[in-house]
Amino acid sequence: MEPAVVARDLTKVYPTSTTGARALSGVSLSIPAGQVYGLIGRNGAGKTTFVRIGATQLMPTSGSMTVLGDDVVKDAGRVRQRIACVPQESRPLYFLNVDQLIYLYLKLRGMDRAEARRRTDAVLEELGLSAVGKQLVNQLSGGMRRRAMVAMVLASDAEVLYLDEPTTGLDPLARREVWGAIRRASQEHRTVLLTTHYLDEADALSARLALLEGGQVRLEGTPHDLRARVRHPYRVTVEGVLGLSELQSYGEVSEVSGGHLVFARESSARDLAIYALGKGARVSMGPVSLEDIFLQVVGRSIEEDGEGVATES
Ligand SMILES: Nc1ncnc2c1ncn2[C@@H]1O[C@H](COP(=O)(O)OP(=O)(O)OP(=O)(O)O)[C@@H](O)[C@H]1O
Ligand SMILES: [Mg+2]
Repeated sequence: MEPAVVARDLTKVYPTSTTGARALSGVSLSIPAGQVYGLIGRNGAGKTTFVRIGATQLMPTSGSMTVLGDDVVKDAGRVRQRIACVPQESRPLYFLNVDQLIYLYLKLRGMDRAEARRRTDAVLEELGLSAVGKQLVNQLSGGMRRRAMVAMVLASDAEVLYLDEPTTGLDPLARREVWGAIRRASQEHRTVLLTTHYLDEADALSARLALLEGGQVRLEGTPHDLRARVRHPYRVTVEGVLGLSELQSYGEVSEVSGGHLVFARESSARDLAIYALGKGARVSMGPVSLEDIFLQVVGRSIEEDGEGVATES
């Protein structure tokens, strides 16, 4: 199947930028259709810039991007009909109630009345918004307002959905409801491009992921691929008797409450677990989490930057 979104050597320098820095620098990504694709990275990594170019809100400086085969610059009109977007900073129309907000959005996208009504009721129910359906959007709490925006976009019939931090500010139960709705969208073979700082969320939902850092792709692949690509794919926590010096030969050690956390290669992790158990320590071992990968990859690039500065001075 053709990928839904393809970026080729995409670069963006904001004309307003005082430093002339590249918000995106040679980003090439291929986002498969009908799946959730996670875009992660630190603040300022370029996630929103990528999403906004894909949503035809922003022009690339160079390179290209296509959505379902249409170019985001040359065929922007066609792209817009097939996408829907929850921007990072969104302000829904305040004078409407939640029900009207969603229903009118669907009508504006060209849906007939009966279908718009049916989908509005279904999404209100699905995202736990039925009780506030008649409340004005400006009287909702921040998290509820965010949920209403997400509901609006998920209820649409767009084939590609951009969700830029859809669950920021949501309570844990509401987050799970949004996860369910995102999963359902991908079961309907819609493509979801999701940015998030919640790495458990990125891991739970994404079929593939890209880690952006400084406007460039640092890692890309399935969660399994990403684990295979880091230097230390295993984490071992050791509680009790062992000291730092005993652990350092096995991998990268950091102190955690009650003991140490060691990132290691598989064989070293196994050796360490056997050694530590023999010494009477409490040990747990497993593959690294997405957060561990993030810290290993992004943390190292920050250290390298730091070292670069130190060498020059
Ligand atoms: N309108 C703008 N004018 C100038 N520079 C901008 C503008 N918007 C973003 N930038 C810069 O572009 C870079 C990427 O920003 P972007 O918003 O894409 O990051 P992000 O990954 O979405 O970050 P966050 O996680 O904080 O949302 C940053 O250095 C940012 O300062
Ligand atoms: Mg952003």
